[in-house]
Amino acid sequence: MDRIEIHPVKYFKGEVIPAPDKSISHRAVIFSSLANGRSVIRNFLRAEDPFSTINAFRALGVQIEDSNEEIIIDGRGLNGLKEPEDVINCGNSGTTIRLISGILAGNPFFSVLTGDASLRSRPMGRIIIPLSQMGAEIRARSNNKYPPLSIKGGYLKAVRYEMPVASAQVKSSIILAGLYTDGITEVIEPIKSRDHTERMLPAFGAEINIKDNVISIKGRAELKSNLIEIPGDFSSAAFFLVGALIIDNSDLIIKNVGINPTRTGVLEVLQRMGADIKIENTRYISGEPVADLYCTGGKKLKALNIKREQIPSMIDEFPILCVAATQAEGVTTIRGAEELRVKESDRIKSMVSELRKMGVEIEEYPDGLSIKGSSSLRGADIESHNDHRIAMAMSIAGLIAEGVTTINGVSSVNISFPGFFDIIRRLTH
Ligand code: S3P
Repeated sequence: MDRIEIHPVKYFKGEVIPAPDKSISHRAVIFSSLANGRSVIRNFLRAEDPFSTINAFRALGVQIEDSNEEIIIDGRGLNGLKEPEDVINCGNSGTTIRLISGILAGNPFFSVLTGDASLRSRPMGRIIIPLSQMGAEIRARSNNKYPPLSIKGGYLKAVRYEMPVASAQVKSSIILAGLYTDGITEVIEPIKSRDHTERMLPAFGAEINIKDNVISIKGRAELKSNLIEIPGDFSSAAFFLVGALIIDNSDLIIKNVGINPTRTGVLEVLQRMGADIKIENTRYISGEPVADLYCTGGKKLKALNIKREQIPSMIDEFPILCVAATQAEGVTTIRGAEELRVKESDRIKSMVSELRKMGVEIEEYPDGLSIKGSSSLRGADIESHNDHRIAMAMSIAGLIAEGVTTINGVSSVNISFPGFFDIIRRLTH
């Protein structure tokens, strides 16, 4: 049965290493596949989303081995991919379909990309428009909006593209297509989004320049193989972080967490809300800053207003931030966040409906919500909406609710964090 019962706990205590970073795991596979020679990836996220990327590159002729310790990839070079014999299924993964589209746009063969019901309802116009401007022939369902996508790639021309939405997936898709041009492709972001592509691709030999919000990539780079170690995922750590902060007497050390500033918006927000979080032992792993987080529960949090400029750096932490807001003193308002409506589920709608079931007072807006804090949550029958982050955030809410909380559709956590519930059981008392 795809459900779990959550009971209230007294505190979070101990040490935890979060799941390896999902965004960085995808990119490590993608860039290694395009490099010449054998690359090795350590601490890879063995979860459904990154496996969708591995399967896609296998379908494109790349040899990828999983030794259980490491992922070993024999890259075929930028122009060594082969036409897939069948439709490529990207599962639930927006990063897989959008980044691979940028590569297929530059390859002179035909391919079709699809995914599960959630992925087939996510907007693809945002990549189809720039990749078509560069010269690819792309068609999609529902008047070029949704997957399946068919791509006939080939010669691409460099463009200067101003992105209407802040999206690391769109930015990375265009950067990858830029590798297949003879010139310099420029992407302009309205607000800075996660920069893992810009950090990792130069380590494979690509020439990328960044000036303010303009990212330029020189085409036809020869990518060389690499050894990549993946840091822990801040987005996965955030569930434990908030769990520890909202439960009195908690004391938790979260080790080996990526603290790339384009990802840690919610860390600053929680600190401004009054949370006791210490960042220690900062170091670098494969070009990414990593640290250990020391979190102590019991400090009363204060509500905050969160605005559009802050959203990209905390885009995946919205569900768990909503849970923190239920315990803060005052009303927390989050606006300028309409992108959340086109994630794995409509995350604004999902959080409004599920937190209301637990007794929280919430107002919904087209671009966000406001949550009245200091709520006592009551156990309820919760739907994950088949969204891994809703399932995990609502499970943390269940730990502070009175009575039993049932989370339905709980296998969705395997998208980004298999083993999540084992860790919760180990850390909570
Ligand atoms: C991701 C970018 C973000 C994020 C997603 C992973 C990435 O999506 O929500 O979970 O790996 O580039 P958008 O680029 O659509 O904001």
